[in-house]
Amino acid sequence: MIKSTFPITTSPEGPKPDFIDPDFYTGKEYSLPSPSDRLVEENFTKLSLQRRSRRAYSKATMTRKQLSYLLYYAYHEEDGHLPVPSGANSKSLRLYVCIFNVLDMEKGIYKYHPRRHSLFLVRRFLDATEEIDKIFLGQAFIQKASCLIALGIHLPSSSYKYPSEGEKLSLLEAGHVGQQIQLASESLMLASCPVAKYRQEAIDQFFQSEETPIAYVFPVGTRESNF
Ligand SMILES: Cc1cc2nc3c(=O)[nH]c(=O)nc-3n(C[C@H](O)[C@H](O)[C@H](O)COP(=O)(O)O)c2cc1C
Repeated sequence: MIKSTFPITTSPEGPKPDFIDPDFYTGKEYSLPSPSDRLVEENFTKLSLQRRSRRAYSKATMTRKQLSYLLYYAYHEEDGHLPVPSGANSKSLRLYVCIFNVLDMEKGIYKYHPRRHSLFLVRRFLDATEEIDKIFLGQAFIQKASCLIALGIHLPSSSYKYPSEGEKLSLLEAGHVGQQIQLASESLMLASCPVAKYRQEAIDQFFQSEETPIAYVFPVGTRESNF
């Protein structure tokens, strides 16, 4: 059984620092279009019942607008709030996007800026097939997605208030974001799948996320079939 180890008070004196560090977002910035409000399905009950882990992706390209919609409803910050709750209001996740096949976007790794709703280029690549295969231990469907949304954990944020609880708070927050990504994908008739089976060191090298280790990955793509 999980035993709470929340200390009664460990908050340091003074105002909480703003952990959205501008130095984290370097590289060329790509603004995203405003998220589409023309959804295929917006009935929450239907979406919840239809949600599946979908691993069959077609070759059709995903659009920037679709990507924008997914990121917006996953982790866009407005008036200090995210679409998900955040333990100790720490907002401890850093979203990375690996683009394989999104219209008008170069293949590469990007960081999502939750306040600017934009992507910052980390690095381009021509072909990441071999790396992806090694990282995800041969889960072949991942290669066929249009993009991967990877959730990195910034432990200094989540352990700031309750030092012993950082990992738990971040992982719980990641679960909330994951559900948003799955329901948003479902509403756009896209396919997404939660993935936690990967080599930790290799994935952090790939995303250059050593300071914010990846805890959860969501391949997203256009749907090949209803599976
Ligand atoms: C934390 C977590 C990790 C998962 N990791 C993987 C994974 O690495 N590869 C995969 O194909 N599916 C993965 N899944 C998806 C599960 O296999 C899937 O949710 C489960 O079979 C139920 O199917 P459903 O989501 O369609 O209802 C993961 C799911 C969760 C919640």
